[in-house]
Amino acid sequence: MVEKRVPDAEGAAHDAAGGPLRSSRCEALSGTIAVPGDKSISHRAVILGGLAVGETRITGLLEGEDVLRTAAALRALGAEVERCGEGDWRIHGCGVGGLAEPSDVLDMGNSGTAARLLAGVVATHPITSFMTGDASLRRRPMQRVIAPLSQFGAGFVSRQGGRMPLSIIGARTPVPITYELPVASAQVKSAVLLGGLNVPGRTTVIEPEATRDHTERMLRHFGGTVDVVLDGGVRHISVVGQPELLGAAVDVPGDFSSAAFPIVAALLLPGSDIVIENVGMNPGRSGLLTTLLEMGARIDLLNARERGGEPVADLRVRGGALHGIEVPAERAPSMIDEYPILAVAAAFADGPTVMRGLAELRVKESDRLGATSDGLAACGVEVRAGADDLTVVGGAVRGGAEIATQLDHRIAMAFLVLGAASEQPVRVDDAAPIATSFPGFVALMNSLGTAIGPAA
Ligand code: S3P
Repeated sequence: MVEKRVPDAEGAAHDAAGGPLRSSRCEALSGTIAVPGDKSISHRAVILGGLAVGETRITGLLEGEDVLRTAAALRALGAEVERCGEGDWRIHGCGVGGLAEPSDVLDMGNSGTAARLLAGVVATHPITSFMTGDASLRRRPMQRVIAPLSQFGAGFVSRQGGRMPLSIIGARTPVPITYELPVASAQVKSAVLLGGLNVPGRTTVIEPEATRDHTERMLRHFGGTVDVVLDGGVRHISVVGQPELLGAAVDVPGDFSSAAFPIVAALLLPGSDIVIENVGMNPGRSGLLTTLLEMGARIDLLNARERGGEPVADLRVRGGALHGIEVPAERAPSMIDEYPILAVAAAFADGPTVMRGLAELRVKESDRLGATSDGLAACGVEVRAGADDLTVVGGAVRGGAEIATQLDHRIAMAFLVLGAASEQPVRVDDAAPIATSFPGFVALMNSLGTAIGPAA
């Protein structure tokens, strides 16, 4: 096996500085890497640590800006949250029901997950809180959590259309609810389940389409009870409120959604052979793997094992030709964050790739459907975007465009990967959003052989 590489200091400096980046065509990638900790699991570890009694010790925590926002919010809500070393954090929680009223506005930055999950937590505590975020987050819909959380008895004041900033008046005497998700969203499911923790009685979420189940897994890991009943393929997920959650050790696996970028880069560059160690393989997250395998990708799962209640594996990825396929709408929840990078893979594949069921992409950190299709078109790719579908016709990719990141980390990273394989370099206008989920991205990619650097 090839020697394991660590990010170089120069690359790390590029990441931290933000500004425009340029990615140029490179040779085959090689090496063994590990990507940063899973973002979804990291948020939940910090939140449940803050709601547990006793000490929670987290290793491998993603120290991206999104998770740091959650950590700061838990501190503002009264938990002791301490960084002991790289990715190594200690939390002393307040116990379910024990959060204090924050003395200032909770700023969730770019993170929809932080905002929605924490809205659930504070909605059933007898406190009033105020929440805001960056320009991207202030455009995103919060009505999807306001609707169910109001049923607990919480009060909300928002801008028009349920947009942030929000004031949240937590329910003094919350009542349990049963809520059917109108949209396949793990964030909404988690907001309701976390809200239900401080409500006497049973709170149930009905989930017609399965979404990532990190909240359910981690609640059990902290000693909570989560019941899942399948009724005609529909999941009824319930928690009984006011449990005593006990501090736990959490070892966060690498983020599959981050691994997606080096995976696709390696696939697109013939002769590449890389290994990504310790990648989270939760079935609610790994739809991209299924899709890439259907497209003819050479990806091997090595060492499949379990870590802290989550499946993990090492992935060996080898470069080679891909062909276009149809990606069914039912698969969308299990790869919802991976469409920009899948679309990049599709641009180099043989024939068209049709992706359906993408309406949710319109309300991510950017309108990802629009940003992906505009960016591909600017790079000379034949692409058609509908209201909730995307068709990408693969072939030779010219590149040579400037991509507007629109405060969206995944758009930035997807197009830097495109530039590694296109005929002409690609410029991305703002590297700063990458730090929300993948600090060290440039250095880690360059350690494999990409040529990403500051743009003039
Ligand atoms: C997340 C759920 C997804 C995903 C987001 C993280 C989570 O959002 O896009 O990056 O951690 O629960 P939705 O559940 O709203 O689709």
